Amino acid sequence: MDMDLKTRDEVDLGEVAAVVKRTNPLAAGREIAQIEAALDAIQERHPSDFILEAREEGILIGWLSFRKTTATMGEMGRWQPHVLNVSAKETVFCRLLHSLTDEAGRRGIRRIEVGYGRISVEVLDIYDERAAWLEAEGFHKLEDNLFMACSLSGCELTIPPLPDTMTLQCLSTVPSDDLFRCYAESFSESEHRQFFDFTPGPIREAFDGYFDLTVPYDDDASLVLAADGRVVGFSLIRPRTNEAHLEMFGLHPDFRGMGLGKTLLRTSMRTVFDEGTERMTLGVDAVNVPAVALYEKTGFERVSRMVVHSWKHDD
Ligand SMILES: CC(C)(COP(=O)(O)OP(=O)(O)OC[C@H]1O[C@@H](n2cnc3c(N)ncnc32)[C@H](O)[C@@H]1OP(=O)(O)O)[C@@H](O)C(=O)NCCC(=O)NCCS
Repeated sequence: MDMDLKTRDEVDLGEVAAVVKRTNPLAAGREIAQIEAALDAIQERHPSDFILEAREEGILIGWLSFRKTTATMGEMGRWQPHVLNVSAKETVFCRLLHSLTDEAGRRGIRRIEVGYGRISVEVLDIYDERAAWLEAEGFHKLEDNLFMACSLSGCELTIPPLPDTMTLQCLSTVPSDDLFRCYAESFSESEHRQFFDFTPGPIREAFDGYFDLTVPYDDDASLVLAADGRVVGFSLIRPRTNEAHLEMFGLHPDFRGMGLGKTLLRTSMRTVFDEGTERMTLGVDAVNVPAVALYEKTGFERVSRMVVHSWKHDD
């Protein structure tokens, strides 16, 4: 097997597109010319620093592209490496990964990421096989995000009564600092990995990004739950084409396990439905068992996953 290191301009995109069509489950139904155009567009937007090709007797049997994202970090394209269904598929896949980490090391790259998106039940076996090979080559799972959706017309939307001391009100009516306090405390005790390595400054930065109310949001369906005037829960809904997206959701740790999350979520869902939107979507950390359980209880179903694997240089 030969391993060629190429620049974007040296690569025959038509040849590469033919390999993608046969190896990427998401490209299977597309014409080679369409895939070639898509690859070209990706290269325009995010040019590769180099491309590695694996060849057997001159025939392309696998490849990957690498792009630097910072001086010391970079990423492979989605679902890469692409390897034809040859008998030594695992060997080719691992040789490509080896060559990538060697070359990246030579270029001062300390960390590489690769994402596998739209993992539905149909392509789960293909993903699992590749994940095992990545793991064997030192690429560990960094993020595992689950995308869920719910058809609101098919859900139970009756809202359980709240205790007398509690109220639901529009999120826009509460001071941002009160909301921030609840957000920071909620996610500090969460299965959700959004605060990994976070210190107070970045937590506030993340909050300001998520809760930017200059970006369109649903004012009526985005709510806070207050107990004796204190913010103890929040839901933030953003409109998308033909659907509403649950952008942020959480309950203060002192108020969990009492059915309040279900009440808050159902109220937002009911409002969205009454406004005429039929579908609601969300993304959740796949290891966040309480949240996934709550979402499944309120009518959301698993649609697909997006997993990011990462490799770090051994210092
Ligand atoms: C996820 C979260 C909102 C749940 O809120 P909650 O008020 O405790 O949930 P509820 O009491 O309304 O529970 C509703 C259902 O969720 C499920 N659930 C809640 N907590 C659970 C847990 N710890 N383990 C398993 N299932 C759980 C149960 O199925 C429960 O139904 P049941 O009581 O009929 O069995 C809360 O844990 C939280 O705020 N976590 C931190 C922030 C976060 O992760 N947000 C989601 C980001 S996508």
